[in-house]
Amino acid sequence: MAGKMFNREVICARGLRKKYGDKEVVRGINLSVSKGECFGILGPNGAGKTTIVKMIFGLSPPTSGTLLVLGMNVNGNQREIKKHLGVVSQEDHLDSDLNVGENLEVFARYYGMRPAESRPYVKQLLELMGLSDRYRSKIHELSGGMRRRLSIARSLINNPDLLILDEPTTGLDPHARRLVWQMLRSIKEKQITMLLTTHYLEEASILCDRLVIMDDGIILDEGNPRFLVKKHAGEEVLELGLREKPEFWQNEISARFGDMQKGSLLLGDSLYFYLNGDGKVLLNEINSLATPVSYHLLRPSNLEDVFLKLTGKKLETES
Ligand SMILES: Nc1ncnc2c1ncn2[C@@H]1O[C@H](COP(=O)(O)OP(=O)(O)O)[C@@H](O)[C@H]1O
Ligand SMILES: [Mg+2]
Repeated sequence: MAGKMFNREVICARGLRKKYGDKEVVRGINLSVSKGECFGILGPNGAGKTTIVKMIFGLSPPTSGTLLVLGMNVNGNQREIKKHLGVVSQEDHLDSDLNVGENLEVFARYYGMRPAESRPYVKQLLELMGLSDRYRSKIHELSGGMRRRLSIARSLINNPDLLILDEPTTGLDPHARRLVWQMLRSIKEKQITMLLTTHYLEEASILCDRLVIMDDGIILDEGNPRFLVKKHAGEEVLELGLREKPEFWQNEISARFGDMQKGSLLLGDSLYFYLNGDGKVLLNEINSLATPVSYHLLRPSNLEDVFLKLTGKKLETES
């Protein structure tokens, strides 16, 4: 626990802004992260996620607004705050001259632990991250996923009160990504407060208790992932491809069956209906109108729909 008293708010940002030259990249955000939760910042490249992480970690001072971490203002308390944080940055910063175990032991030494002291803990962390049999491996012998997991193990060495993960699975293949999710879940079970940034919707919905959706330096909405999906995109989405006059059909269907929907969105020739009720009923009605439908897809609503509805664009989903 941090030396100074803080209430349950681990991160508190009010009107936080960051300018690089003339360009404001974080434009007045409020954040409140409680003890023990996994809090997500979901947004596309360039949204301002890493900038926020850097301000929390004291690598970059806020231009204005207040930012408290563990009850301490980031201005003037960087050293004290850092002692209590674990950070996994977007790129791995492992020492390739050292083997896996040494990477952790050296890091432990920064925090004043002697190798004899830290060794049992290092072993425990490697086990937690599924790397027990890699103690003596060279860094270059590890896969991308293993390196990520080692970086995560390293970030836990000082038993942090807040673990920050900046895009922890970007660049990993789907299998390696799933393995990292599994490890992050076991960290979560230890009730370590986590701040996780991501542009992967699945990652955000699987791991985060609460999240903010960010675009272009601004928070668009915040809440529990399932709550946000229900609020903006209902229970189900009916996606229709239209061969002609998509706007006409959007209006027509909305006017006739407005009570079945939470709203709709037209993106090119694709029309999305966010539904409260039974999508099959609506689909039958639409078909009975001889609507020029080229394809249809009825599926559960997800965070992608929320992002699409809030911004009018898709969140990149390369994997
Ligand atoms: N050191 C910097 N100098 C100038 N502009 C920067 C700097 N770092 C980031 N930016 C800009 O700030 C915006 C937000 O970047 P970043 O916080 O890295 O976003 P994200 O992590 O969400 O992809 C981007 O437009 C980026 O180009
Ligand atoms: Mg980033």
